[in-house]
Amino acid sequence: MNNFEFFNPVKIVFGKGEIAKLTNLVPKGAKVMMTYGGGSIKKNGIYDQVKTALTGFDVTEFSGIEANPHYETLMKAVQIVKANKIDFLLAVGGGSVLDGTKFIAAATLWEGSDPWDILTRRNEINVEAALPIGTVLTLPATGSEMNGNSVVTRWETKEKLAFGSDFVLPKFSILDPLVVFSLPEKQVANGIVDAFVHVMEQYLTYPVNSPIQDRFAESILTTLIEEGPKVLANRTDYESAANFMWAATMALNGLIGVGVPQDWATHTIGHELTAFHGIDHGRTLCIILPGIMNLKREDKKAKILQYGERVWKITEGSDDERIDATIEKTVSFFESVGVKTKLADYGVGSDIIPKIVERFEARGIKSIGERGIISIADVAKILELRLK
Ligand code: NZQ
Ligand code: ZN
Repeated sequence: MNNFEFFNPVKIVFGKGEIAKLTNLVPKGAKVMMTYGGGSIKKNGIYDQVKTALTGFDVTEFSGIEANPHYETLMKAVQIVKANKIDFLLAVGGGSVLDGTKFIAAATLWEGSDPWDILTRRNEINVEAALPIGTVLTLPATGSEMNGNSVVTRWETKEKLAFGSDFVLPKFSILDPLVVFSLPEKQVANGIVDAFVHVMEQYLTYPVNSPIQDRFAESILTTLIEEGPKVLANRTDYESAANFMWAATMALNGLIGVGVPQDWATHTIGHELTAFHGIDHGRTLCIILPGIMNLKREDKKAKILQYGERVWKITEGSDDERIDATIEKTVSFFESVGVKTKLADYGVGSDIIPKIVERFEARGIKSIGERGIISIADVAKILELRLK
């Protein structure tokens, strides 16, 4: 196992009816900005629960944070935060609202000249301060409720970039599985596959003798395979909703990624598909991951075989046959929850390949994935494999 440091101070408040606890979780006397998306919380009753719990607090609302939150929108919020001397941000929504709020928190206290640098120069300069954040999660998927990551899109240039900082770790996150009841099928499917691929990014690399992390990872994958379809079949099955929600949080709160190599190539390429074509985040991952497993079958052999055997019970055949069967099972799982896995399914043709290659080259990226096993030429091959 590799050396590691682990820090995760996010207080999780989990369960039915727990949104009411906001009253005691938000600091007394805080000037609060409540951020949310396009209005789903007004239809499913979450907005009313939050407002009731915040009775007596000084609350400014900022709505309209879109899926794949836009820098342009978030900067409007930053102006309001500064003008009203807001000192606490409460994000109520899915990954987009949470990520957007993390960016608002960091951009408000940013001392550099251009807050866009938080995303474009993340390897050179660090976020040194951010406003405190609390969250009420409404969509299990990203793990944003218990991590310090944020992904922001600049609409005018079609760029989708991420940053990470301990300063934007939420002070608390409320996870009430009842929020799952109002989710459209498409969003449940997106959440299942996003959480699944988060585990794969931290697991499907090469062995470093890390049985705890491996078995935690396999248990999250198995839970998603078992519970995901139950949530899709019956949205008001509370127990399945609760297991799905906790699985998605555990998939990306840092725990399974400690002391092990990580990949993240699927996400890096996937973000470009969202940036250029607006494909939902989770869906981009299901397009790319099978291509990486196929092309990098030698580098990832030991872990693909372990995953195939422990998660899908594939034990027969040569190594290559077992790897093929494992990729096939993974693709079938994605398709079974309603997520298509080829570029053609989304109306995207081969012209995307040079666009992504050019963009990586312009950013000076030479290789991605664990040990840099994926060159830019490989990125083109992976996309080629996933055309139709
Ligand atoms: O905007 P509203 O009206 O609220 O509707 C949302 C939105 O249209 C709706 N929704 C959310 N909760 C609902 C609901 N509808 C009914 N009932 C509910 N309870 O769902 C739609 C999608 O929401 P969004 O927040 O965009 O989805 P998700 O949670 O999948 O977040 C995706 C974003 O997170 C980023 C992605 O790149 C993408 O921008 N990610 C963040 C990560 C992180 N912070 O660690 C990691 C991920 O890999 C990912 O990159
Ligand atoms: Zn993801």
